[in-house]
Amino acid sequence: MEIINPLPRHIAVIMDGNGRWAQARGLERSEGHAKGVETLRNMLKLCKKYGIDYLTAYAFSTENWKRPKEEVSTLMLLLGEYLKIETEKLYSEKIQLRIIGDTTLMPAELERALQESVAYLAVPEHKRVLTLALSYGGRDEIIRAARAIAEDITNNKITTADITEDCFSRYLDTSGIPDPDLLIRTAGELRLSNFLLWQLSYAELYATRTLWPDFSETDFVEALHNFSSRTRKFGNVPHADEN
Ligand code: FPP
Repeated sequence: MEIINPLPRHIAVIMDGNGRWAQARGLERSEGHAKGVETLRNMLKLCKKYGIDYLTAYAFSTENWKRPKEEVSTLMLLLGEYLKIETEKLYSEKIQLRIIGDTTLMPAELERALQESVAYLAVPEHKRVLTLALSYGGRDEIIRAARAIAEDITNNKITTADITEDCFSRYLDTSGIPDPDLLIRTAGELRLSNFLLWQLSYAELYATRTLWPDFSETDFVEALHNFSSRTRKFGNVPHADEN
């Protein structure tokens, strides 16, 4: 395997194009989503192969609730199946599962199943983390954090002077997870679509026309190469040892 350096520690993905993939084949959109789940499984394998510990996938946005009922049900069903099939596999692969988003909006049984899987997989020694964004919106997450901070101030747990970037980050759903270094978006769109608005501040962005169900190891390696060729400055000037 070729050496790619530097590698991102955390990759976030917007898995777009499932519907178009299905439509192009005369299939139902749900079949595109089912194929999309396979791509996500493969992506997790690729992260292991290339040594990337954190993967965060945008599986369902706050806006996705507006989709036709049947499509929402399909996605919930796929998620339930995914948890049943994958929880044990994630454990044996030593991967923790985190969920970000307002899951109180999910069907109650699914929310319970999610919590059970998350609790079962929360083994501190397991260093790799899969984060699924479900019923997730970046603005919604920031507003929920702001409310929690206001409550803690009211209850004298913190003062306004305590609110720093680090402190604010700890109130977000992603608390404890390093910010993504690389965002991959498939299917040719160049938007953030309300994904990880706070956490993506310094991420490198990579967009490909490949539809999510077609996203392969070749596309993955191309994204890694693209990342490794960038000079990350974090608002500073490049350091001599970075070139
Ligand atoms: C975007 O494609 C994709 C989604 C809205 C859902 C992504 C979900 C999955 C891959 C499966 C669910 C995940 C798990 C873990 C079970 P689109 O439908 O917007 O495609 P289009 O833009 O071509 O219509």
